[in-house]
Amino acid sequence: MLDAPLAEADSTHGVAWTRKDLLDTDTLTRAEIDLVLQTARGMREVRSRPVSKVSTLRGTTVATLFYEQSTRTRASFEVAAKALGADVVNLTASGSSVEKGETLIDTVSTLEAIGTDVIVMRHHRSGAPFLAARHTSASIINGGDGTHAHPTQALLDLFTMVDRLGSLEGRKVVIVGDVFHSRVARSNAWALLKYGADVTFCGPPTLLPRYFVPTVDGRRCTMATDLDEAIEDADVVMALRLQKERQRHGLIPSLREYISRYQVNPARLRKAKPDALLMHPGPVNEGIELSPEVAHGAQSLIEAQVANGVAVRMALLYLIAARSRV
Ligand code: CP
Repeated sequence: MLDAPLAEADSTHGVAWTRKDLLDTDTLTRAEIDLVLQTARGMREVRSRPVSKVSTLRGTTVATLFYEQSTRTRASFEVAAKALGADVVNLTASGSSVEKGETLIDTVSTLEAIGTDVIVMRHHRSGAPFLAARHTSASIINGGDGTHAHPTQALLDLFTMVDRLGSLEGRKVVIVGDVFHSRVARSNAWALLKYGADVTFCGPPTLLPRYFVPTVDGRRCTMATDLDEAIEDADVVMALRLQKERQRHGLIPSLREYISRYQVNPARLRKAKPDALLMHPGPVNEGIELSPEVAHGAQSLIEAQVANGVAVRMALLYLIAARSRV
């Protein structure tokens, strides 16, 4: 039996969740994203109760399978699953049979064989969750694959923006930094374009996408290399981590020059709208993509993003795991 607020959230716009997996935001319809956000509002209400747990997913097993480091995604999925009454298994590549050479498909099959219903997966190879999804009847949620996609981060970012701004139609969102290596930027762009936002990717030419730019209904992300121009009148400024671990040599001339041209600092943030939202998916390289004053300033939503991550991930686990039970 579903708890009442969750059952109500489930009937948003008459849309039902039918997907086995969540792999990226590009294939989600606007109505499906609306359903996730509406369900997340119900979950946030659950989290605000004195007893902030429900038993909706009792009997469901959720595994987190992480081949790459994570703090926010892994911890918030574990908290989300437990808040819904699910059992949780946590696996990392280090310390598991992956170290003995077990393949991804064998690992996923093993998790399915022990009764796992949902696998939240992060992998350093782009596309790995797509491969896994084809080889298991368990649901796969992509917790970040290589430089490709990070749909749950994008959905919690969208939830945070809609919460503060209401409609995103015509809102100017500037995503600045290492866009080329950023799965967060790509998944955000798909979702934001579906919500009618104007999205600008800003960074040095070597860190902007070269081959493929998200486009929805003929509207595509704009490219910019001058942050001082791009940030003017922005409603949202989202800075990205400089992913030193994914960069080959020579993509930026020097860290000092990168900071001087692309760091979001108080002077630059003043060029955006006065009440512009400052966001960052974390972890932050403080002093590189964000100055400390901005990172901890009144416009920063970094902690709100993390907190909203639990509600959004509860919503996704609920919609995906409960789809066959409703
Ligand atoms: N934003 C994000 O994915 O953070 P983690 O790497 O800590 O999960």
